[in-house]
Amino acid sequence: MNILLTGGVGYIGSHTAVVLAETGHEVVLYDNFSNSSTDVIHRLTTIIGSDLPFVQGDVRDTARLTHALRTHHIEAVVHFAGLKAVGESVIQPIAYYDNNVNGAISLLQAMQTAGARTLVFSSSATVYGDPQYLPFDEAHPTSAINPYGRTKLHIEQMLCDVARTADHWRIACLRYFNPVGAHESGLIGENPKGIPNNLMPYVARVASGQLPHLEVFGADYSTADGTGVRDYIHVVDLAKGHLAALDFLRKEIGWHVFNLGTGRGYSVLEIVRAFELASNRPIPYRVAPRRMGDLAAYYAEPNRAKTVLNWQAERTLQEMCASMWRWQERLSRTAVD
Ligand code: NAD
Ligand code: UD1
Repeated sequence: MNILLTGGVGYIGSHTAVVLAETGHEVVLYDNFSNSSTDVIHRLTTIIGSDLPFVQGDVRDTARLTHALRTHHIEAVVHFAGLKAVGESVIQPIAYYDNNVNGAISLLQAMQTAGARTLVFSSSATVYGDPQYLPFDEAHPTSAINPYGRTKLHIEQMLCDVARTADHWRIACLRYFNPVGAHESGLIGENPKGIPNNLMPYVARVASGQLPHLEVFGADYSTADGTGVRDYIHVVDLAKGHLAALDFLRKEIGWHVFNLGTGRGYSVLEIVRAFELASNRPIPYRVAPRRMGDLAAYYAEPNRAKTVLNWQAERTLQEMCASMWRWQERLSRTAVD
């Protein structure tokens, strides 16, 4: 299938590009480089062994996007492009609504014009808000606790409406839990600009000596060791979830929601210990106050993806940490950006 990946040069998009290309799909990347660099495209060529067509553009540029869809005879789109930092979304909500919501509207218009009706959307477990029960299944009520989450909810509702029209859209909404790790080659991974907000990249930089210690945001939650619990999922497993969703959409029209998680939660201290093992480095930490807006614990009920998509996460926490460390070591050795 000819598949366009908006935001395909980013963290999850680049890993998905590898999985799709290795399965024989024709992959086209579309990205404005607001949070990625051309270097990733060269490294993708090294991993895949051939060049991937690439269009530099913004998803809000409907004419450019329509042209790309037509030129490359695109049959399906995976929509990764967007802004994703929760704290930043509180400070700059307009930028988030513009990029994420207007970006999605522009994409739908372009797809409508170009006649491509199959879409996989990157959503987030953040749309479940405060847990009313755990694990989160897809029927759990949704609510947003910050502007980033609200953009995801707005887009989901919009896509659901579009899928209900008579135009035979095929839309899969994938709610990611906490993606971590990197490709086994050590050539692509996540490299946040500045000081990382998320746990795993922060821990990796402490292990490499770039940051002195981790601050553990709260050790008084009602969890086994008092620290926050999350469902971490290896980014390559996550990437394979997109392949499964695209296969499913060949047979099914309409709107379909799937959690992509492992179903297993790990605490901050369990992550610290696993990363110490993988890196063979100490991870000094201090207990700090809770981070505003954080939840004590949440994890996925992944059964729907298993039964309907025939997909499940396979990689262990040790593999998540080991691949992350391999990537971090490469970043430390070279001036990769
Ligand atoms: P990322 O920032 O690494 O990748 C996003 C890519 O989109 C970047 O390459 C960026 O340059 C590009 N982009 C942003 N705005 C664009 C625009 N207007 N036009 C064209 N390109 C644009 O992020 P990621 O971690 O790969 O996340 C991908 C998607 O998954 C996002 O929609 C994010 O909200 C969602 N998601 C991510 C996580 C996570 O923890 N990484 C969790 C849940 C959901
Ligand atoms: C964050 C986002 C969420 C997004 C998810 C994707 C926030 C508030 N939420 O969730 O919307 O969908 O990433 O991966 O940013 N921690 C520390 N010290 C640190 C960093 C984190 O103790 O320096 C703890 C947190 O308190 C939490 C756990 O580590 O318990 C995971 O944090 P993080 O990686 O930021 O992910 P989420 O909070 O789950």
